[in-house]
Amino acid sequence: MHSKNVRRAIDSFFFGLLFAGKALGQLQRIIGNLFIQRLAPERFDNRKSIELDQYVASMPCPQNAVDLLPGWNHALPPEIEATAGSGCFYNDPRILWALEQFGSLEGKKVLEIGPLEASHTYLLEKHKPLLLHAVDANKLSFLRCLVVKELLQLKIARFFLGDCQEWLEQTTEKYDFIVASGVLYHMMDPVRFIELMAARTDCIFIWTHYADETEMPPGDIRRAAFIGDMEAEERHGVQIRSHRRSYHGAWVDKAFCGGIHDAHRWLERDDILVLLGALGFDDIRLSSQQPDHPNGPAFSIYARRRERENADVGDAQAPAVS
Ligand SMILES: C[S@@+](CC[C@H](N)C(=O)[O-])C[C@H]1O[C@@H](n2cnc3c(N)ncnc32)[C@H](O)[C@@H]1O
Repeated sequence: MHSKNVRRAIDSFFFGLLFAGKALGQLQRIIGNLFIQRLAPERFDNRKSIELDQYVASMPCPQNAVDLLPGWNHALPPEIEATAGSGCFYNDPRILWALEQFGSLEGKKVLEIGPLEASHTYLLEKHKPLLLHAVDANKLSFLRCLVVKELLQLKIARFFLGDCQEWLEQTTEKYDFIVASGVLYHMMDPVRFIELMAARTDCIFIWTHYADETEMPPGDIRRAAFIGDMEAEERHGVQIRSHRRSYHGAWVDKAFCGGIHDAHRWLERDDILVLLGALGFDDIRLSSQQPDHPNGPAFSIYARRRERENADVGDAQAPAVS
């Protein structure tokens, strides 16, 4: 009992000391400020005007929100009056074409993969889908999307940070339309990615780069990122050729918009189409074919399953990896 009281008294003493120390520090600062105010008022005014790092002291405006994050690729619509990136993707003809093929989005469930800075999300939301999920794995992209969501007042779109393949594997959602622009060629296993999308929808839009012997022959500078020999494997009864690539450290740039893994693969053009066919997509339309794209040949694919269009395939399963 006695020792408990002694202990309590010691604790109170040290607590008192700590408190007194803090109070003394505070007092010192106040007295110091009073002295400076009296003896060197100019210096005091300067000290007062120092802005704290975590604050923005100017008039609130969209540009402040944009400047908060580095690495912008996409421009914002002019009415926002803010400078972000340079690419005007908020009116991207590739997405307009995809929407033309699909028809009205009203009442539809849409998944967008790799929104980057939400330009396509904005375009998709304008067509009033019932649900719009946008999944991006890049932390900065996700944050930039949230800034755009606020600036463009997106109400339907929801953004999710993480791997779209995990999302496709685990979601129970059946989407009416999956928009995968600029992502297939960033995947470590692009065939698996197509399989997973095919399990969750009957209608896909893909814009992608691809490998092709004629359009990008050996020696073409655009093959420089390829590593090793072409690989081939049989999936769904078809031979799929792929080419491993590296980003060669490009991810140090804050505007980097590649995939999660350095090792990623490009598929051969015709194999993508044959694979989609093997997965039941019997209405395949192509557009914006650009064999001379500076990064590698590219095209848009709109792929739809006509037969199952109105069927309920909510319990669709991703095909097992063969
Ligand atoms: C080249 S950008 C395409 C941006 C936009 N969709 C377009 O077409 O302009 C690729 C986007 O996909 C995202 N991405 C890459 N791999 C991903 C993954 N496994 N899961 C989710 N997002 C991914 C990147 O972070 C980036 O935002």
